[in-house]
Amino acid sequence: MVTIVVGTQWGDEGKGKVIDFLAAGHQLIARYQGGSNAGHTVVVNGKRYIFHLIPSGILHQGVECLLGNGVVIDPVSLETELQTLEKEGIPYAGRLWISENSHVTLPSHKALDKMEDRFRGKGMLGTTGRGIGTTYADKSARIGIRMVDFIKPEVFRAKLEINLQLKNYLFKKYYETDDIFQVDRIIEDYAPLAERLRPMVRDTAYYLNDALKSGRNLLCEGAQGTFLDIDFGTYPYVTASNSIAGGACTGLGLGPTRINRVIGVAKAYTTRVGEGPFPTEIAGVFGDRFRDLGAEYGATTGRPRRCGWFDSVLVRYSGIINGLDELFITKLDVLSNLPSIKLATAYELNGARFDRPPLNFQDFSSIKPVYEEMEGWQTDLSGIRAWKQLPVNARRYLDRIEELCQVPISTISFGPDRAQTLSRA
Ligand code: GDP
Ligand code: IMO
Ligand code: MG
Repeated sequence: MVTIVVGTQWGDEGKGKVIDFLAAGHQLIARYQGGSNAGHTVVVNGKRYIFHLIPSGILHQGVECLLGNGVVIDPVSLETELQTLEKEGIPYAGRLWISENSHVTLPSHKALDKMEDRFRGKGMLGTTGRGIGTTYADKSARIGIRMVDFIKPEVFRAKLEINLQLKNYLFKKYYETDDIFQVDRIIEDYAPLAERLRPMVRDTAYYLNDALKSGRNLLCEGAQGTFLDIDFGTYPYVTASNSIAGGACTGLGLGPTRINRVIGVAKAYTTRVGEGPFPTEIAGVFGDRFRDLGAEYGATTGRPRRCGWFDSVLVRYSGIINGLDELFITKLDVLSNLPSIKLATAYELNGARFDRPPLNFQDFSSIKPVYEEMEGWQTDLSGIRAWKQLPVNARRYLDRIEELCQVPISTISFGPDRAQTLSRA
């Protein structure tokens, strides 16, 4: 059985919590794209963990975790996470695997990412600066360094020499900086990291497909969200990978016929970090209040997240593009204090009404949401143990989301802790 968990908005929907919640029924959890731009938070018994690369299921002892070929891996970031696991007494030897074909992020990728974004000037994307776009660019340009190359010292050196030649030329001649990257220096710093990772590197596509044949269950952990997808997101204000459910096939080596279930994670409102259009964004004091209520600060960069109302045009589109079977609604508790709640049902542009997002950036930046306003429930949700105990206005809100997005809601989350979760059945 293969289940994909995917973000339906602009990331940070609570995917880490959802993966941790679902992990118990699975033997394998795999990340299929992105890199350490992701920040996935898991809270168990009041203790908070933030994962950037390691799948959020690692806290479950019986589960094996895997980073697929579609992931870009910064060995320094991964090493920091491994050290955290060690400190917390969470064993990972023999249960954390890395694809031979995944690509490695080097210091030059990170420096170039920051430099490129600065040079975009007004068109700045506000990337996480983690070298994501530049690592994927090298992958597409066929000058990337794969994990299988990284762990073989002579191959790593040979590939690095070629890769840095062009990078150093760019740094020197175009960006006019003195930050030149030395092959020997990088080898010296990264060789111990390669040694550490070597026992984890394997042909993960074979491994996964064999595991599925023997009846094991796999959970695929998406990073980012549908509107940050390089093809279907608000291009160019997107990340550099396919974060939609389809990315799990190419990012893990799974045939489309293997996928059984796709779960879309949606916040009960909307947030976005970084630049780009955001139709339901709430500006000013009320937006700030929203941010405080939801503690909306980036798990990777600490940047304040932009906040706004739930946008059913976006999530309806996510339902189509990801083939969603169900919705997992998070952070319902954040709306508990509001006397009334708005929700976007459609968009308007030049007097015309649309029920789907525009494909071009200019229209996306100019459209105005059409809102519907619903009465809030103004009741604390923390004691809720069954669906029928939900305040009637909360149920109405969820029913309306379901109706507008045309995807059934299977589960809700009303607090960061693993325990603050409720399935409908
Ligand atoms: P991800 O990137 O999709 O995994 O999401 P993040 O971890 O970046 O952001 C989600 C934040 O919301 C984290 O701080 C979570 O601990 C928190 N969170 C998740 N679900 C809930 C919920 O239902 N209520 C509240 N109040 N916080 C939640
Ligand atoms: P998780 O998995 C929210 C955003 C960045 C920026 C854009 C491009 O935690 O949901 P990048 O560094 O990827 O080239 O930046 O994408 N971004 C995210 N926003 N959640 C994430 O991950 C994100 N990963 C990247 O803020 O706008
Ligand atoms: Mg996040």
